[in-house]
Amino acid sequence: MGKKVAVVGAGNVGATAAQRLAEKDLCDVVLVDIVGGVPQGKALDLMEAAPIEKHDAKLAGVNGYEATAGSDVVIVTAGIPRKPGMSRDDLLATNAKIMRGVCGEIAKYSPGATLIIVSNPLDAMCHVAYEASGFPKNRVIGMAGVLDSARFRAFIAMELGVSVENTHAFVLGGHGDTMVPLPRYSTVAGIPITELMSPERVAALVERTRNGGAEIVSLLKTGSAYYAPASAAVEMAESILKDKKKILPCAALLSGEYGIKDLFIGVPVKLGRGGIEQIVEIRLTPEEDQALKKSAAAVQSLVDAMAAMK
Ligand code: LAC
Repeated sequence: MGKKVAVVGAGNVGATAAQRLAEKDLCDVVLVDIVGGVPQGKALDLMEAAPIEKHDAKLAGVNGYEATAGSDVVIVTAGIPRKPGMSRDDLLATNAKIMRGVCGEIAKYSPGATLIIVSNPLDAMCHVAYEASGFPKNRVIGMAGVLDSARFRAFIAMELGVSVENTHAFVLGGHGDTMVPLPRYSTVAGIPITELMSPERVAALVERTRNGGAEIVSLLKTGSAYYAPASAAVEMAESILKDKKKILPCAALLSGEYGIKDLFIGVPVKLGRGGIEQIVEIRLTPEEDQALKKSAAAVQSLVDAMAAMK
């Protein structure tokens, strides 16, 4: 096997990510949490499922970072989730503190790892992870675009009664209310959805995608989504571990691409062994560009708020 992934946070997202990583036989998994017994219990439970699920991935649960040493990829899910009525931004101060501590430890034990950040508010947490780890920008990546586009794809498939496998969707921008789903780049079997449904239905699906996280929070009441977020993080990890070079929408630190500088925001990137191996720049219409800039401004205001807290 050879590959090793640490998953920080043994809550619903972390434990589900650990399960998917192991069941896809991608790597050994170290599940880390500060709560005694929880990562150990979940890892052991998953090990006991392995004979039935037919994989030989090893899972360990720990409360410290020593056992994570030498991880190839680290998925950080640590932090508090949203409750109904809360926005992702309401989590800023608490999760920034947690993120800082986690990434300092990761950098110490796995200096060559690629970080996949999942905690919210996502784009702002990527800034904290980048600073606290000291890692180069290609090895700090935020998970959100894959989740948001998976939601868009699911809604497209439901709307048209087609296989999800026929769908592709494109979402740019921050992981928040200002995210920018791009219908003209969202397709079914290569056909843009703008050719397949009315502008009103496209707009409704875009809106549902933007509110996708909140829709789940309002149903669950005690937390936020975890099956789809875990799937999204694992798709990114797989592309890195297997050097697949998939193009996926992820939060990346931009240095002038799309006219944005020094800000993490969702754009299409190529993910391989080196983490982000390329940022793919596509030409946007003036409206799309304006929507992306608005989303960037929303992320920037959170980054500024964090700087003011220091
Ligand atoms: C969501 C949270 C995880 O979008 O941000 O469900």
